[in-house]
Amino acid sequence: MKRTVFRFARGARRFATAAKQDAKVESAADAASAAKKAKYRRWGKSAAFWGLGALVAWDINLVLADDKKPAGGKADGYPKWTDKHKSLLRKYLTPEVYEKLKDKKTKYGFTLQQVIASGVANPDSNIGVYAGDEDSYTVFGDLFDPIIKEYHDGFGKDGKHKTDFKTALKAPEKDEKSEFIVSTRIRVGRNLAGYPLGAGVNHKELMEIEKKIVEGLNGLEGDLAGKYYPLKGMSKEDATQLTKDHFLFKEGDRFLEAAGLNRAWPDGRGIYHNKDKTFLVWVNEEDQLRIISMQNGGDVNQVFQRLGRAVDQLQKKIKFSYNDHLGYISSCPTNLGTAMRASVHVKLPHLSKDKKTFQALADKHHLQIRGIHGEHTEDDSGVYDVSNSRRLGFTEAELVQGMYNGIQEMIAKEKELKAKAKH
Ligand code: ADP
Ligand code: ARG
Repeated sequence: MKRTVFRFARGARRFATAAKQDAKVESAADAASAAKKAKYRRWGKSAAFWGLGALVAWDINLVLADDKKPAGGKADGYPKWTDKHKSLLRKYLTPEVYEKLKDKKTKYGFTLQQVIASGVANPDSNIGVYAGDEDSYTVFGDLFDPIIKEYHDGFGKDGKHKTDFKTALKAPEKDEKSEFIVSTRIRVGRNLAGYPLGAGVNHKELMEIEKKIVEGLNGLEGDLAGKYYPLKGMSKEDATQLTKDHFLFKEGDRFLEAAGLNRAWPDGRGIYHNKDKTFLVWVNEEDQLRIISMQNGGDVNQVFQRLGRAVDQLQKKIKFSYNDHLGYISSCPTNLGTAMRASVHVKLPHLSKDKKTFQALADKHHLQIRGIHGEHTEDDSGVYDVSNSRRLGFTEAELVQGMYNGIQEMIAKEKELKAKAKH
């Protein structure tokens, strides 16, 4: 295609030049011939115009197709940290580690500058790094290994990951009337084997990945059957409503932006969901797939079981990137392993006023507290998003069980504080 466009443009240019020269030489010739030449000239100009247009289009295509340049701009030396930079990136990217890694590249050409771009550009990052492919985790291991170890509770270089969706949970409390638990959601991230991750893909790969995922999704059956809605062409109102209702990812996340994960937006992005929106899949956001099971109330068993079935069916159709050490490969090291975040939106108006106790309970059960409008959000509604923080080195069943146990203890404390407040 590109070669054809190129040939066409070159031909048009030659044709236009020839027509111009001819017209000069024959300026004294008879009027009929001059008119003929003028006609050729017009054709030549028009052909040159369209040829040029095609070339510009080809160029744009090239920019999109070959956009593997560092997301964070040029390689400009060891980062200039400010007082606000408090990330694990800052902690572990010592000048020595920087020197050792600065000229390395993965087999897809991902660089250290790309790995650290988001954490340098966003001083409030907690972690600050993203991988561009599976290889990033080994090539830049001197940086990733200590970050992984600290985030995933001591998971070392020799650690082995294990996966288990089958073990039954001990989770009898369902809170179906949502006295405390508004909703339960469990998601896992997945990326395709044989491709770079989102920050490392080019436009062609991005579109191929979307196509493969949608083909896989279209084969799902029963309560998992649904429809794919590409972001491109979706009305602003629909997208905003879906995001507000906690179904769709938000647009313009600055951490992803700086990591190069929002390139060519909204191309290749979209959301699949079943009729009831209890099973959803985000396509080409931070990870190539975010497979989500969610519903109102606190029946964590049902949510977990639905997710397990979905993952099982999907991995028969799509090969996911996985290794025995890091489990499922993800863009951000916090998501490695299970790539699972099991969360509840839970009403804890009394406990959340006692921030120290709330945080201590979260720490005890390795849980993370977020606002209910997604990561990096906060409000004072008294409803919180509480989820497992570790994802690597523990099975899916273990992590969901841990989240359930922690939430039950938080709810018990909430009841106690509420009763005290009445006296
Ligand atoms: P991720 O789950 O991928 O880590 P976010 O924290 O940004 O990403 O959450 C994505 C969306 O999922 C947000 O709209 C958030 O409100 C919603 N969400 C998360 N947990 C729950 C839950 N338990 N119930 C309902 N919505 C949830
Ligand atoms: N890069 C962000 C930070 O360092 C987010 C890290 C974890 N969250 C995520 N969605 N990967 O704070």
